[in-house]
Amino acid sequence: MKSICVLHLLSSKQVQLYRQVREDETAQIIRKIQEANGSVVNMTDLLVTLTNNLIARVASGKAYGFQHTVHRIAKATTRFSVGNYFPSFTWMDRLSGLLREADEIFKESDDLFEGVIEEHVNKKDFGIKGHDLVDILLEIQKDKSTGFELERYMIKAIILNMYGAGTDTTSTSLVWAIGELLRNPRVMKELQQEALFRPERFLNSPMDYIGSHFEYLPFGAGRRGCPGIKFAATINELVLANLAYKFEFALEGEHSLDMSETDGMTAHKKYPILVKATLYE
Ligand code: HEM
Repeated sequence: MKSICVLHLLSSKQVQLYRQVREDETAQIIRKIQEANGSVVNMTDLLVTLTNNLIARVASGKAYGFQHTVHRIAKATTRFSVGNYFPSFTWMDRLSGLLREADEIFKESDDLFEGVIEEHVNKKDFGIKGHDLVDILLEIQKDKSTGFELERYMIKAIILNMYGAGTDTTSTSLVWAIGELLRNPRVMKELQQEALFRPERFLNSPMDYIGSHFEYLPFGAGRRGCPGIKFAATINELVLANLAYKFEFALEGEHSLDMSETDGMTAHKKYPILVKATLYE
């Protein structure tokens, strides 16, 4: 399964093919900030919407209702299941409503992904150059190139996994990065001046983020390392460079500089980033 993700869905070539979608979605948030015309914008909401739309479009051509379903799943997985630890006490999970909720969520997500696959089987054109991930998985299923039967439930699970693993992580890292830049105007200035990026400046740096330096492992390392690393790094660079290049930001609200985290699977910033943006001269 992992090799399907690495070789077919998230390879460098595939990431290049999604350039148009990345640029469209980035242009949309730039437009929204410009349209706010100097009034307060919630940067956290904008970045969450951007990554959700982007990954949904790449995964399946359009957004469907993924955000709602994945949010329900993520919330349910943080609930404590007694039966997971003491199987003879599973009745407690039934009593607490956990099992009913799990069944409901399963049905909701299964119906959703069944619909996504059906639409793809019955062919549609969502305007993505090349194929989206569902198309690719259906092709792999047809030509049996994996050496095992890629069943429909597996395709649903992969798409759910891509969306679940790719959206929250990417938007959260962007939110933290913007938050840190706004707290550190000197670094923001440096980025603005370099916004046309000189990637070669990293050539002589001994540090990388791909898993060979154990002091710094944002994407994990080794067999369990993140297969979406190129995908995420490309989005992060494009969005951050565009925001820094186009705007000057002023923080708004009493919690603007508060970098507290929430609980949960992903370390979200507790308070949203509110800013007023003016064009960068
Ligand atoms: C800044 C953004 C991202 C960060 C920081 C990140 C981080 C990580 C980390 C640390 C893991 C390893 C978890 C473990 O040890 O089990 C992981 C796994 C994974 N990531 Fe990412 N990720 C990001 C974006 C993405 C994107 C965009 C996708 C796909 C579109 C993705 C897909 C996956 C998948 C499928 C796994 C599971 C791999 C496995 O279990 O073998 N990630 N990610």
